[in-house]
Amino acid sequence: MATSEIRIGVWAPVHGPRAALQDPAEPFDASWAHNRAVVLEAEALGYDSTLVAQHTINPHVPDYDQLEAWTGAAALAALTSRIEIIAAIKPYLVHPVVLAKMALQIENISEGRFAINLVNAWNRLEYEKAGILFAEHDDRYAYGREWISVVERLVRGERVTHAGRNFQITDYALAPKDLYRARPRIYVGGESEPARALVADHGDTWFINGQPLADVAALIGDLRRRPRRGAPLSFGLAAFVIARATEREAQDYYEHLTQLAARDAQIRAIQRANSDDKVVMLQTIAKSPRIGSNGGTAAGLVGSYDQVAQRIRAFHGAGIELFMLQFQPLSAEMRTFAAEVFPRLGKQPASSVRPSAPAFIAR
Ligand SMILES: Cc1cc2nc3c(=O)[nH]c(=O)nc-3n(C[C@H](O)[C@H](O)[C@H](O)COP(=O)(O)O)c2cc1C
Repeated sequence: MATSEIRIGVWAPVHGPRAALQDPAEPFDASWAHNRAVVLEAEALGYDSTLVAQHTINPHVPDYDQLEAWTGAAALAALTSRIEIIAAIKPYLVHPVVLAKMALQIENISEGRFAINLVNAWNRLEYEKAGILFAEHDDRYAYGREWISVVERLVRGERVTHAGRNFQITDYALAPKDLYRARPRIYVGGESEPARALVADHGDTWFINGQPLADVAALIGDLRRRPRRGAPLSFGLAAFVIARATEREAQDYYEHLTQLAARDAQIRAIQRANSDDKVVMLQTIAKSPRIGSNGGTAAGLVGSYDQVAQRIRAFHGAGIELFMLQFQPLSAEMRTFAAEVFPRLGKQPASSVRPSAPAFIAR
């Protein structure tokens, strides 16, 4: 079914390492300098996209460092020239008019390489400590639906008058409009029923949590059966990769990282206690042992270079177009993946990569 090229992205290290926080090979570093270095190198290596997750306080340990997603994304946009930059946003944190303005500004700075990832939150603490309402799961989605309907119209250059449950907007238009395409791309992350309905109605690309191929194929099938206006939905997958010369070496490294991750048990317990237990993502990731966030290694991208490339091709065959990858240690593994797996996927070497901001017509 897949017709588009495989695109490979990397998660920016906005809150430190993804698999284990206490790893001598990857000291905790969520600084701007580290994020800048990683994304610049990713672009030079030929990666197509980066995802800047949004958390106002570090979701593992609130006192740890955390990169601010939108100011960070704006700076990355100014420093890069080819890679797609996706910044996540949780609707309750920014009014839709302000967020649409910020998105158009970063679209302008990046010359058409910016995207929004709409996520509807799980970390209760981030909201409650700030005195921001952390509504029930489905109410958050209802709010997010109204919020994105406003953002979408504003970023596509419409003049908006909107009288809804949460927002009253009168004759509002943003200038300049998007100079590069109809509007920035809209991704949605979230697995529950309201998340699926939201992406079918308002998104361009659904980000799926890392999980086995059969489960991912079933999720894609569900979304493809839903009514939709305009261009078909595309699909992205979050996954943690361990690729080595042999399967044995990859498995050994998986064991090593698993043991390191076990040192974070107390931190994870606190994180779980702060989470909304209605979030389906948390149920999915509890199904199987894994390392990394958002499903991590549950997608099965642990193996020899050939195996990892084959599995990526299999996911692509099922409909995944963008692979948003995690590695640890990040820089070294990202380089190895580019050197060994990119050629096995038929990806061009970095020197010959053309601009990869996805051309698409907004619905
Ligand atoms: C690819 C991806 C990226 C995500 N990024 C963030 C993020 O930056 N910040 C955040 O708080 N949650 C993030 N999430 C988690 C969503 O907030 C979570 O899935 C949400 O609570 C939706 O819950 P649901 O699975 O019940 O629909 C992400 C999820 C996915 C799949």
